[in-house]
This record gives sequence, structure tokens and C-alpha cells, in this order.
Amino acid sequence: MLKKIQEEILQLKEDKNAIILAHNYQTKEIQEIADFIGDSLELCIKATQITDKDLVVFCGVDFMAETAYILNPEKKIVIPDAGAECPMAHMLPAGEIKKAKKRFPDAAVVLYVNTLAEAKAEADVLCTSANAIKIVESLKEKTILFGPDSNLAGYVSQNTDKEIIPIPENGHCYVHKMFSPSDILLLKEKYPEAEVLIHPECDSEVQEMGDQILSTGGMLDHIHASNEKDFIIGTEIDMVTRIKRENPDKNPVPAFAEAICENMKLHTLEKVKNSLINEEFVVTVPEDTMKKALKSVERMLELSK
Ligand code: 13P
Ligand code: SF4
Repeated sequence: MLKKIQEEILQLKEDKNAIILAHNYQTKEIQEIADFIGDSLELCIKATQITDKDLVVFCGVDFMAETAYILNPEKKIVIPDAGAECPMAHMLPAGEIKKAKKRFPDAAVVLYVNTLAEAKAEADVLCTSANAIKIVESLKEKTILFGPDSNLAGYVSQNTDKEIIPIPENGHCYVHKMFSPSDILLLKEKYPEAEVLIHPECDSEVQEMGDQILSTGGMLDHIHASNEKDFIIGTEIDMVTRIKRENPDKNPVPAFAEAICENMKLHTLEKVKNSLINEEFVVTVPEDTMKKALKSVERMLELSK
């Protein structure tokens, strides 16, 4: 049964002709009132399909809401807590990319969607953890400047013959740094039949423990299609919440129960309600940046079809 505040949010959503988009790392109570829950790529695609709504409440981090704006500049995009930033996205300022381009003028610039709009404006194309290999493989250039996640860069490098140069050298996600092979080994003893699903933002030695390396959306699809029961989940804790909600017959076990993205958790039901009532906090991107960034987002969407 829904809480009173959740009922109020659903009513406000109707009154305002709004849609609530939420990333897989949102809490159960936010997942319950969202119209759409997804990984970064699924959220980008959904953002291209919001034709009939006036207001978009984005329960995710800054770069995700910016991407929704870049794809819908005529719409009002609001984020319930304006401080919900992805620290990794802030590790690659546009200036760093410009410097790297000067050093490697023949390289293509492929940026993870976890970047700010100014950085996206410097990219040839974007990627997410769901399509990174496909995007890199589709380019004619042999050398690829890839950032900001050095672990995703390493994963792509292992799956392509191209030269992948990470920018910056050590960009990373603090949440996915929390996983360790020893924790996973212990869980494998407890659940010997379990399949190990690892997000590519994890360190390489953790990736090596994985039966599958998948984006959060990829994990969900894999579990839906699998006959197995036990899964060890190497990503943020609320991915397990989503898997459990949609697969009550499966047993997803967190690879590390304290892997919490505090930035994602800044959104609460109270703040979602406020964002609907006061239509805040509005996310925008300056027009010239938006136009350049749009090209790299659209190219990704085209190449990942
Ligand atoms: P996904 O696209 O796999 O959901 O990853 C986004 C993210 O921020 C992971 O930390
Ligand atoms: Fe950013 Fe990591 Fe949080 Fe994903 S989990 S939003 S990469 S800090």
C-alpha cells in the first residue's frame, strides 16, 4: 500500500501533467511513484519520447537531468535536490578534454554519459555502460580518448583492438570502488550456484570475478531472461531493490551491502513533492553548449540502435 505522501505525489503529477523519471539507484519509495525507472541509456531514450508532458521530475544525478534537458530544451526539467551531483562526472572538466585533443589530434573523443554538459559538448560521441563497446567499435578512428571512468575505459580496451586512452588517468566512481574480490569470494561460498553480475565501473580485479559485466539495465534484462535463482549483484544497493520488486522469485544478493550512492539518495519523497508543487529545481544548459552536446547525445542514440 502506498503512503499518504506517495498518493499526494501521484495526484500532483496528474494535476501538473508531469512525468517522474528515476534511475535504478533510487530508493524503493521513489521507485514506487516513478513513471519510468531505468539505466542511463534507457533514461536517455525515454527522454526522447516525452512528447505529451509539461514537467519532468528527474530523480537521478545532475548529468542525467542535464541530458534530459539537452533532449527536451522546450520542457521544464526539475531535480528534487539540486545538490544531487555525480562526483565522477565532475572529474573531467571541458578544459582537460581540449588539452587531450591537442595531444592526440587524430583520436576520437568518446565520453561516458556521466559527464557534465560542457564536457559532452567536446565529445564526438557519448556512450553508457550498456553500449560503450558497440560505440567504440563503430568508429573509424583507431585511437580513442575515453573518459571519465578509467574502469569502463579498461573494460572497453579489453574488448576492442583500438587504443583506448583514459582521460583523466584515474577517473572513478567512489561507490563502485567499494567492491572487493574477497567479499565476492565469500558470497560465492555461501551461494555456490549464484551468477555474479558486475558493473563495469568496478575495478578490474572485481570485474574478473564476474560471470557477466553489465549496465544496471543489462542486469535486470539478464535476470528476467535467466532460469537461475541466485545472483550476486556488483553495483549500487538499490539495484537489488529494483530486481527484487520485479522478480520476487529470484534471490539477488548485494556484493557489498554498503555500496550506497549518497548523491542519488539526496532525493526524498518530501523533495519530490516540493519539486512538483514549486516546479523546482530547474535544470538548464546554456544554448551553445546544449546544441553541441546534443550532437554527441544524438550520435550515441543513432549508433546504439
Ligand atoms: P547505468 O547506466 O548502468 O545505470 O550506470 C549509471 C551509473 O551512474 C552507474 O554508477
Ligand atoms: Fe556517479 Fe557512482 Fe553515483 Fe553512479 S554510483 S551516479 S557513477 S557516484
